[in-house]
Amino acid sequence: MMPLEPIDLFQGRPAPDLLPTEHLKNAAVKALSDKIVSDPGLGYGPDEGYFPLRQNIASWLSNFYKTQQPTDAERICITGGASQNLTSILTVFTDPLQTRMVWLVEPTYHLVFRIFEDAGFHDRMRGIPEDEEGMDANALEKALELFQEKDNSIPDTDKKTSKPNKSYRKIYRHVIYCVPSFSNPSGTTMTMSRRESLVRIARKFDALIVCDDVYDFLAWNLQDVKSIPSPFQRLVDIDRTLDEGPSDCFGNVVSNGTFSKLIGPGCRVGWAEGTAKFAYGLSQAGQNISGGAPCQLMSTFVNELLESKIIEQHIATVLIPQGRRRHLAILSAIKEYLSPLGAMVSSDTTSSTPGTALSGGYCIWLKLPAPLIAAEVCRRASEMQNLTLGCGDVFEVPGSRSPEKELHRSLRLCFMWEDENRIVEGIQRLAHVIRELLHTTRN
Ligand SMILES: Cc1ncc(COP(=O)(O)O)c(C=O)c1O
Repeated sequence: MMPLEPIDLFQGRPAPDLLPTEHLKNAAVKALSDKIVSDPGLGYGPDEGYFPLRQNIASWLSNFYKTQQPTDAERICITGGASQNLTSILTVFTDPLQTRMVWLVEPTYHLVFRIFEDAGFHDRMRGIPEDEEGMDANALEKALELFQEKDNSIPDTDKKTSKPNKSYRKIYRHVIYCVPSFSNPSGTTMTMSRRESLVRIARKFDALIVCDDVYDFLAWNLQDVKSIPSPFQRLVDIDRTLDEGPSDCFGNVVSNGTFSKLIGPGCRVGWAEGTAKFAYGLSQAGQNISGGAPCQLMSTFVNELLESKIIEQHIATVLIPQGRRRHLAILSAIKEYLSPLGAMVSSDTTSSTPGTALSGGYCIWLKLPAPLIAAEVCRRASEMQNLTLGCGDVFEVPGSRSPEKELHRSLRLCFMWEDENRIVEGIQRLAHVIRELLHTTRN
């Protein structure tokens, strides 16, 4: 028998045919052909990043999110993408001797764990469960209260610092990490009331909320191809206006954006938005003041794409229609082949955001039928079907491990890497595995 072609539903990146390679080539040629752009592009850049890109990102975000107050360049710092920037955020705004804990939505995007570990928080990450409205704000508040009761018994004088006091930085007492829209891995979108609750909690406990707002642009309506869903307000925008506005000039939220899902991960350009003071503070990380933001030349290429509106066009004509089709393909294949076996999609965003038909992102979260265990399903899928799946265990926050959690019986399935036919075939192969394992466990 011929070995089966590999199918990968774990890959969380865009398929090569979704990349705007030709547009990027033209943008690069244009940028490098104009000395006014290429000279600064090839030099050391400003700490906050290439100014025209900061301006263009600011107006693009204001238009897209229809923010009550327009975003301006001062609120934007150019980054090397969301992952690199999480490191920078923690470098500038946390101190493992002062910052007490990191609270992460669970299941969470697993590749942030190492970044928190590297920043000194390896034993101080705690998972906060999410429901269909997003991170459970009540559970978070209770956990913080409980923690604070114990923590208050340690006199402040005993709490040492490892970083010098500088006017550009503030050391937050806690960090909260979440992916508010089309979360990776669960696909959940946080409701407005949850978003507001989180901002209030952050203010109350002196926490910085790091929002990976990386999927917001990839939104569609699964029921109606013509309708374009409005995005939810970002937490960083809520922090500008909620109650009396930010608790101090640094605010309590940073929005971590990236072009990885819109242009291509290898581009390594992103942006952070926060208060002007926060954005400036971020730009003062040692690595920035030694040569400027981490991606100066690439920033000039990305800027060409933004200025010419090619990114918006690419999102509207390629990423959204393709994403929507692949999303529909995976949901209907699951309905046909997996639902009869008892598997359920919990990140069907048409139902997780009641009253809206907002769907999007890169992945869905599948609950396996009892008594199946995700690790076993993934192992068998790989061995029997040459099929790679995202095992729920991977997304469990270190420090909160428990075999009882539902994530051990769940899978993350990404739909932007394989095409529609291969997605359907992948789900058929998964159905074989589930059927076989159910048969073995029941007999
Ligand atoms: C939630 C989330 N944050 C960050 C990233 C990585 O972003 P970047 O490539 O900009 O580092 C991803 C990529 O999958 C992601 O899903």
